[in-house]
This record gives sequence, structure tokens and C-alpha cells, in this order.
Amino acid sequence: MMNYLVTGGAGFIGSNFVHQVLATTDHRVTVLDALTYAGNRESLAGLPSDRLSFVQGDIADPDVVNDLVAATDVVVHFAAESHNDNSLRDPSPFIRTNLVGTFTLLEACRHHDVRFHHVSTDEVYGDLALDDPAKFTPETPYRPSSPYSASKAGSDHLVRAWVRSFGVAATLSNCSNNYGPYQHIEKFIPRQITNVLDGGRPKLYGAGLNVRDWIHVEDHNRAVLEIIAHGRIGETYLIGADGEKDNKTVIETILRLLGRPEDAYDHVADRSGHDLRYAIDASKLRDELGWRPVYSDFEAGLAATIDWYRDNESWWRPQKAAVEAAYAAQGQ
Ligand code: NAD
Ligand code: DAU
Repeated sequence: MMNYLVTGGAGFIGSNFVHQVLATTDHRVTVLDALTYAGNRESLAGLPSDRLSFVQGDIADPDVVNDLVAATDVVVHFAAESHNDNSLRDPSPFIRTNLVGTFTLLEACRHHDVRFHHVSTDEVYGDLALDDPAKFTPETPYRPSSPYSASKAGSDHLVRAWVRSFGVAATLSNCSNNYGPYQHIEKFIPRQITNVLDGGRPKLYGAGLNVRDWIHVEDHNRAVLEIIAHGRIGETYLIGADGEKDNKTVIETILRLLGRPEDAYDHVADRSGHDLRYAIDASKLRDELGWRPVYSDFEAGLAATIDWYRDNESWWRPQKAAVEAAYAAQGQ
């Protein structure tokens, strides 16, 4: 039995991680989450209170972080400002949370000699051309495009520096685009699902040829658990499930699964600096740690995700109008 401190555990991937840890291990979990617009206590509802505690606080606040880290065996660091479009509207919280927050956690792990796992993104590598057969590997040079991805790239560099300079026992993972339950409706897939459930139309940026490498959130989190248990300290593991799809195809699939005509969507203003394609080569994770995705059928995973949003309208409904108003103000 171990004590896990999960930062960002009320967000999309973090809350799914907490569900998974409590269901599949006997570990205790403390969630540290600031409950920004992206955090939701309801995502942790019904979990066993004898093994889960919740602290509302800021990862960039050393007073909060120090005491929690001192009482922890492993810090699993999900907390972040995570949405590219928001980083284009106002980059400042991305710098504070993703850089100063990660620094604050690393300092606490250094002083209390605590194991650290850093959850990061494939966006640190920039983008690939649409017709390029290449995929990202751990050796791909960093080339982030947006304030969000630049702040995550900086956080990765901090982690590696704390490993080398101070001997912090850290691992890193860089994952591709996740989908599944509890994802905030500002993000592409849940935005389109809830638009259709709401009687509206999906919104496609530009021509929709941009490619994302989709992975189910439970497969991502299984990989994180594997890396914490068996990954080599100081190493970076790329997580992806060979799920490349262009955005237009994803929207057409959502419309078809919801019984609507496949062309019943709107083209809206493109994202500034929009990355073209992400693709992950996960062979290090597969070969070294034996990880394999369970959700190999994207359409089946998407259908289950649509069912989740249909069955959990009370979870997303309170935010829908404000999210759409913010997009509309940007022509999106
Ligand atoms: P999310 O936006 O859904 O959740 C982020 C959580 O962090 C929220 O609960 C929020 O309240 C919390 N938080 C934000 N600032 C905080 C602060 N200063 N102190 C404490 N808590 C704070 O994000 P997500 O999509 O679940 O992403 C989680 C992590 O995974 C991020 O580090 C992200 O970069 C990474 N990642 C995400 C994806 C993806 O597809 N969503 C893919 C690869 C990597
Ligand atoms: O690759 C991993 C990254 O995936 C994570 O690091 C980020 O935290 C996560 O948000 C995600 O970033 P993206 O920018 O790829 O995801 P998003 O859901 O915002 O958009 C996915 C694609 O869909 C992207 O090409 C933009 C497009 N899009 C998005 C929205 C919200 C649309 O066409 N219409 C939309 O309404």
C-alpha cells in the first residue's frame, strides 16, 4: 500500500486516474486540485472516502505543497492549464501553473526525497507534416508552437534538470490526445458530442485536415501506472495507441453515431498557429514495459464516450452556455 498525491485529480485525466487507482490497487490517494474552471468535485463522486482525501489548493503554493509531499510516497503530477485555445486568449495562468507549479512540486520532492511522475504532452515536439510518415520518438527535438505547449516543454526541462542536478527520482510521460468520460466540454470531442445532444451543430476549425493521435484515457492511465511501477528513473516514455484521425473524420463519425447526416457541421475560424499532425511512436513503452492499449477500436470507444455524455448531462450542462459563448466571441 502506498500514498499517492495526485495533482489535478479533479480534472479529466487525473479524475480517471483516481478512479483507476482506487479500483485496481489498495493505494491511498490524496488529490490536490485548485478547482479552476476545469476541475470538478463531481468527477470524484462516489469513490471510497476511507482511501481518498481531497485538498483544494494551488500547486504553486509551497506552504500547501510541502506538507502534502512530506506525507506522500509518490507524486503523480497531472495539474495544468491544458487548453491551447485558452493559452492564446491569456497565457499568464499557463506560466504560473505549468512552470511555477511544477517547480514548486519538484522542490518539495527534492527536500522530502519523494518519487515524482510528470504527466506531459506530445505537443512539446511541435507538429509533423500531413504527408510525413515520421512519428514522435523520445529523441525528437522540442519545438512547441503554442503558449500551452511551450509551458509544458519548459516543465519537462525542469523535471530533467531536477533529476540530473539534484537526484530527484522522477519519470516523465508524453501522451497524445485523450478521449473518454469527464473531459471538459471546451475540448474537441466532448464539445461536438454535447453540441449535437443540445440540438446544435459541431464546429470544425478550418478545413479539418489536422490529425490527432487519439488514445482512450484509461489506456493513458494504465501506462502511467506501469511507468510509476517499472519505469527507469530519469527516463521519458511516449504514450500513444496508433489512433491517427483527421478532425473532419472524427466529426463525421460523431454525427453518424448520433444518427445525424455526416455533413451537418459548421466550418469556423481556424486556431492561430494550429499544429497540423501529431503521431506517437510508443515502442519504448511497449518493448520495455509490455504496455498495450485495451481500446484498439476508436469507434467503439467513441460510442461509449457519447453514451457517457448522454447519461451525465447534469455533469456538463452547467458549463455549456458559457463555453459556447466564449467560442462564439472568437468566431469559433
Ligand atoms: P484538465 O484541464 O481537464 O484538468 C486540469 C486540472 O488541474 C483541473 O482539475 C484543475 O482544477 C487543476 N489545476 C489547474 N491549475 C491548478 C493549480 N495551479 N493548482 C492545482 N490544481 C490546478 O486537464 P487534463 O486534460 O486532464 O490534462 C491533465 C494533464 O495531462 C496535463 O498536464 C496535460 O498537459 C496532460 N495531457 C493532457 C492530454 C489530453 O489530451 N487532455 C494529453 C497529454 C497530456
Ligand atoms: O496532444 C495532446 C494535447 O491534446 C494535450 O496536451 C492538450 O491538453 C489537449 O487539450 C489536446 O490538445 P489539442 O489542441 O489537440 O486538443 P483540442 O481538443 O483542443 O483540439 C483537437 C483538434 O480539434 C485540434 O486540431 C483543434 C480542433 N478543434 C477543436 C475544437 C475545440 C476543432 O476543429 N473544433 C473545436 O471546436
